Amino acid sequence: MPRKQSIHGAWTNRWIFILAATGSAVGLGNIWKFPYIAGENGGGAFVLVYLFCILLVGIPIMMSEVLIGRRGRQSPINSMRETAYEAGHHGRWAGVGWMGALAGFFIFSFYSVVAGWVLYYIAGMGVGKFVDLGSEQAGQIFNGLLADPETLLIWHTLFVVIVMMVIAGGVNKGLERATRVLMPMLFVLLFVLLAYSISSGYFSQGWDFMFHFDPSELSWNAVLVALGHAFFTLSLGMGSIMAYGSYMGKKDSIGGTVLAIAALDTLVALVAGLAIFPIVFANQLDPGAGPGLMFITLPVAFGQMPGGQVFGFLFFLMVGFAAWTSAISLMEPGAAWLVETLGMSRVRAALLLGVVVWALGILALSSFNITADLTLLGMTAFDFLDFLTANIMLPLGGLFIAIFAGWYLTREMTEDELSLRSALIYHAWRLVIRYVSPLAVAVIFALNLYQKLA
Ligand code: PFF
Ligand code: NA
Repeated sequence: MPRKQSIHGAWTNRWIFILAATGSAVGLGNIWKFPYIAGENGGGAFVLVYLFCILLVGIPIMMSEVLIGRRGRQSPINSMRETAYEAGHHGRWAGVGWMGALAGFFIFSFYSVVAGWVLYYIAGMGVGKFVDLGSEQAGQIFNGLLADPETLLIWHTLFVVIVMMVIAGGVNKGLERATRVLMPMLFVLLFVLLAYSISSGYFSQGWDFMFHFDPSELSWNAVLVALGHAFFTLSLGMGSIMAYGSYMGKKDSIGGTVLAIAALDTLVALVAGLAIFPIVFANQLDPGAGPGLMFITLPVAFGQMPGGQVFGFLFFLMVGFAAWTSAISLMEPGAAWLVETLGMSRVRAALLLGVVVWALGILALSSFNITADLTLLGMTAFDFLDFLTANIMLPLGGLFIAIFAGWYLTREMTEDELSLRSALIYHAWRLVIRYVSPLAVAVIFALNLYQKLA
């Protein structure tokens, strides 16, 4: 018998689920990561593959996560187990939830470091550190930050603490109020940046870079990065959306809601790219500059535009909030499990998880300075954590979730939870989740492995 409500609470209405899930999805992945990996992987062709991955892999798997969460009404680990039992299968499926919780810690560790950079930039904008800045100086400021482990540690620690505060209080209360105001504001500020980019005279160059399809730019590695990013940006493959789905009302429609979330997330990423690349070209910067891309280009733009100090301050503030709402969702699967299964209080669960991810984060932040020479498979700790989670763990988790929802859950269960208005759409979902999504992930994995070994 499906449960009516989770012990961790419920969203007060359908809008709140959309806001919360959008809060999870829209974050550093859209504004920081998407532009820089698109830049590193040559632009247009990469962007197109990414869009296909969102459509054929991301959206169907997001629907699956929401339906499993809402059916199980528990933390992802326990929801996987419960729904497997309900369908007459082995509780081993909980393992997918375990891997997800682990991926959440790993992602958090480097996500929090980058969020720390954002906090530093909020403060910097606030005190006018970036007024009338050239791109060279902007680069120096960013590199100076990376070289300074103490400053990095301070901001990383601050970020972990503000995330822990919401986890401790329960996500339903804190998140609702914050997201309602902040998401729309982030959109407005992104459009201010976009307007500046359009006026820069280099907009068409930025546009071409993002949308000109040149297949020769594409490698199987780039396809894997695009696939991995589809999971990362939609918060899929690790249980975040499943956890939020467990707080969703029984009557709300999953299909329409998921479409709205994916569309908003994609819109933010594309607008961020369209805002950033013209600035890159106007200042003769390198689109493949890597993780510093946004932190070097945007201060230059804000330094030049009228009212840039205020806009820049608000912009980084909104990016900070977006990172915050995403990071909360990274911790929620683990926290919900600790409360549910070990009977911990939310405060204790938050403290425990906070300390773990904080310590892991030190590994990530020191890889820019003290431990820069320490590499694994040729990657620093920061790069390795990113690679391991986005390119391996999330697609693998997603693969299992697709197989579980498509082949193991009963038809009655998925049909009942999705309750799509048209039978045709249900069949389309089922076809895609059984064949297209798992095959896409499997083939991209296989070809990458083959290429690395050959
Ligand atoms: N989707 C977030 C972003 O794009 O910034 C990052 C993220 C949050 C990834 C939650 C995974 C996750 F479970
Ligand atoms: Na995102």
